Amino acid sequence: MELFDFVGIIGERSNESLMEYEDKDLLDLYTIKDEEHWYTLFNPLIAYLGDIEGKKILDIGCGSGALANELSKKACQVDGLDSSEGWIGHCKKTYDRENLRFFRATADDLSLFADESFDIVVMNMVVPNIYDADEIRRIFGEIRRVVKETGDIVFSDLHPVCVMAHEEGNRKQVRPDDFSYFKDGNRFTAVVKIEGDREIAFSDSHWTLGFYTDVLDGNGIYIKKIIESTYPENAPKKFFRYSYPEYIIFCCKKF
Ligand SMILES: C[S@@+](CC[C@H](N)C(=O)[O-])C[C@H]1O[C@@H](n2cnc3c(N)ncnc32)[C@H](O)[C@@H]1O
Repeated sequence: MELFDFVGIIGERSNESLMEYEDKDLLDLYTIKDEEHWYTLFNPLIAYLGDIEGKKILDIGCGSGALANELSKKACQVDGLDSSEGWIGHCKKTYDRENLRFFRATADDLSLFADESFDIVVMNMVVPNIYDADEIRRIFGEIRRVVKETGDIVFSDLHPVCVMAHEEGNRKQVRPDDFSYFKDGNRFTAVVKIEGDREIAFSDSHWTLGFYTDVLDGNGIYIKKIIESTYPENAPKKFFRYSYPEYIIFCCKKF
């Protein structure tokens, strides 16, 4: 088998097999990848949020619902939202907590929620699934509307250094010949080895840091802190230690 023999490039528009919960093998692989997400994404995000007791939280693009479920153990109310019927069906079947609800909707239309409904909005690894700049602008407009004046907005993407990185450890980015860091919305394929030679290939879009600051600024949102992911000392040794951050977490507020 080739070093990076794809399990499958997941969907032309947006990682469709994962989003529609169709391919059992891919989903099993993705669940293993979820374990890594605890160290590099979810735990740092939870640590940043601090005391969430009594808070109302919206998790946009909640996927398997693992983070929403964890947050609901301490928060007063958590709503998970995803455009995928498959994932929302999975979440409704899997979790049974009174303060945890799941909704199928797209992030650019949060009309099912009133203005300033949430203390915190989180959105992990959703923007790389969006290929249209205006849709991203609408999403942040909606996020600003539903979060309270003093609320927190926390979202993540692949770190731009990771997007541009050469093959290292368990991952590589396959970029078309005309790929440029400076081109917003450029498509590329992130190939991640999960177990042995089993891999997932994510079809992602790339957005520059300049684009993010423009979109946030245009929607009355500012970046308070950036977290560049790395494995903590206590993470299992099986996770490869990259020489660069895989993910970037933007911790934001309204102005
Ligand atoms: C890469 S997964 C991340 C899932 C989860 N947040 C995590 O970190 O494990 C992206 C998720 O965003 C969802 N998604 C993609 N586009 C969306 C949109 N426009 N509105 C809502 N959800 C969307 C997908 O269905 C998928 O569950």
